[in-house]
Amino acid sequence: MPNLRVEPEQRVIEQDGSRTLLDVMKEAGIPITYACGGRARCSTCRVAVVEGVAFCASRNEAEQAMAEKLALTPDIRLACQTRVSGQVAVRRLVLDALDQKLASQRVALGAEVGRDAELAVMFSDVANFTPFSEALPAYDVVHTLDRWFTASGDVVALHGGRVDNYMGDGFLAVFEQAEGAADAGLELLEAAAALSRYTKGAFGLPFSTRMGIHWGQVVVGTLGASHNRRSTVVGDVVNMAARIEAANKELGTSLLVSRELEQRLPPRFARGRQAELALKGKSSVHALVELRTAG
Ligand code: FES
Repeated sequence: MPNLRVEPEQRVIEQDGSRTLLDVMKEAGIPITYACGGRARCSTCRVAVVEGVAFCASRNEAEQAMAEKLALTPDIRLACQTRVSGQVAVRRLVLDALDQKLASQRVALGAEVGRDAELAVMFSDVANFTPFSEALPAYDVVHTLDRWFTASGDVVALHGGRVDNYMGDGFLAVFEQAEGAADAGLELLEAAAALSRYTKGAFGLPFSTRMGIHWGQVVVGTLGASHNRRSTVVGDVVNMAARIEAANKELGTSLLVSRELEQRLPPRFARGRQAELALKGKSSVHALVELRTAG
C-alpha cells in the first residue's frame, strides 16, 4: 500500500487512495485543521505537496473554485478534497490558531496567497527631498507630494503598472512588462519637470525625481493586519531596485535600470551612461544602464 508522509510531524501513514487526505490524517490522529468540516469552503485543511504531486487526483469543482479564489499554485491542495494514488509527502500549512485565523481571513476577503511572478520593480524618490522639505512649511511639502503622487500614480497606471507602496517621499511600483516600466520611467521624468516648473513658480525651488528599475522574480502576496491588508511584492528584486535608485546620485543620472531589465527593451529606448557598480549591501558588481528621453 502506498505511503503518505506528513510534515512537520514526519508521520508515515499507509493509505489505499479510497479516502481523502483529511480523513486519512484525522484517523491517524494528525492535528489537521478543517474549519468548514471538509466542504472546500475554508481552506484551513490546505497542504503543500512536497513529493509525488503527480499521484494527486485532479482538483474537483469545489477545490478548483477555492484554488482560483486564492490563486493557489498546483502544489497547494485542500486535504478534504484530495485523494492520492501513490507515494506522496505533504506539509500541513495551517499549524496553529493564528494560521487558522489568517487562512479564514483570506477566504473571507478573497485575498490571494503568495505566488511567484517575474516583474519589473521600480523604486522612485524625490531628489534632494531633505533640503526641499526643510525650506518649506509642512503644508507646502504635503501639497507638493500630493501633486507628485497623483501625477506619478496616473503615469504608472497608464503604462500598465501599479503603485505597490509609498514610503515617505518615495514609492515602489510594479509592472508586468519591462517596456511599460521603462516608458513610465521616461514619462515620470517629464512629469517631474512639469512639477518643477510649478514649484519654482510657487516656492522658488526645483523638483526632480530619481528612479531605479530592476527585473526579476518576486513573491506577490496579501499582507498586513486584518484592518489594513493589501497586495504587495517582496524579494531581493525590490531591494535591488532601491539600490539602483540610490546609484543615480553617484552617477549623476535620474533613471537607471539593471542590465536584466535593459535586455528586455527594444532599440527605441535611448541608452545613456553605462556603469558597473558595486551596489551598497550587495556582494557582486551589477551592470546599470541609464535611460534617456530620445532626441
Ligand atoms: S476543511 Fe475546509 S476547505 Fe477543507
